[in-house]
Amino acid sequence: MGKMRTQSVRWRAVAVLASALLVGSVAACGNSDTGGGGGSTDDGKITMGFSQVGAESGWRTANTTSIKESAAAAGIELKFDDAQQKQENQIKAIRNYIQQKVDVIAFSPVVESGWDTVLKEAKDAGIPVILTDRSVDSADKTLYKTFLGSDFVKEGRLAGEWLVEQKKTASGPVNIVELQGNTGAAPANDRKKGFGEAIAANPNLKIIASQPGDFTRAGGKQVMEQFLKANPKIDVLFAHNDDMGLGALEAITAAGKVPGKDITIITVDAVKDGMQALADGKFNFIAECSPLLGPQLMDLAKKVHAGEEVPPRIETEETTFTQEQAKEALPNRKY
Ligand code: AHR
Repeated sequence: MGKMRTQSVRWRAVAVLASALLVGSVAACGNSDTGGGGGSTDDGKITMGFSQVGAESGWRTANTTSIKESAAAAGIELKFDDAQQKQENQIKAIRNYIQQKVDVIAFSPVVESGWDTVLKEAKDAGIPVILTDRSVDSADKTLYKTFLGSDFVKEGRLAGEWLVEQKKTASGPVNIVELQGNTGAAPANDRKKGFGEAIAANPNLKIIASQPGDFTRAGGKQVMEQFLKANPKIDVLFAHNDDMGLGALEAITAAGKVPGKDITIITVDAVKDGMQALADGKFNFIAECSPLLGPQLMDLAKKVHAGEEVPPRIETEETTFTQEQAKEALPNRKY
């Protein structure tokens, strides 16, 4: 009798285990069928794999904070990787996210070219990709869902137009040096283009030297030192971001020149340190580039995960700052 009871208890246990396994495998099939990459768990939480360029500038630090805070606020689980300004690290991180079957991949591409293969791998795995901050030059626009970020050409153009206005009465040559961002990056290519097109309006304005300073203070300082050694007459510096401009300030001061007076300084970003330099009269003009992309990115992630249509390109609204405007804006500046 006792033996029979033990056997029936065993059978019941086996039946419960078998049905639990069946439910489990059906749920797993359901996840991979969503086309969202199967990263969703039963709690319905979205998992985002994010590959960040690095930590090269004040802008980047503010951007990373915005993304991390917004993911937490939106209830999105964030897997974050810092690529240290290397494309190979970004490709590796994206491949890891594909293997982990995250729901959405987002990244800010360090350079514009060379993404087709890995983007195709994500597409084949059914994982939607959102480009944020910087775009890619892939001809096949179906490799990613959307781009969220700035119009970098416009930023360069606004910087150039301001200079054209300032120098409209200049009778002789105005010598400009340019500190570019890292080679091949969308903001470096586009800001150079926009600025160059705008200053073409006045043939007196000439770029006499242009070198990458990699968007870092150290790079800006080092390249500006070389510019100063090689060129006895520099009237204007156009730096593709605040950090390179801030590094250049040290080189300019060390060379016995007064920044903002002997050399007109124009930058891009408008992070707090840049705005302070502008308010202090060391910079002369900044074209804004907003790093606060986190909230919009999380909204987009929810939409693409739900299979909703999103616009192919979403541009951030931005402005420009003179020295007077920087003094007014500084107390409320968030980054
Ligand atoms: O891609 C945005 C640019 O990257 C910012 O202007 C610069 O500061 C950053 O490093």
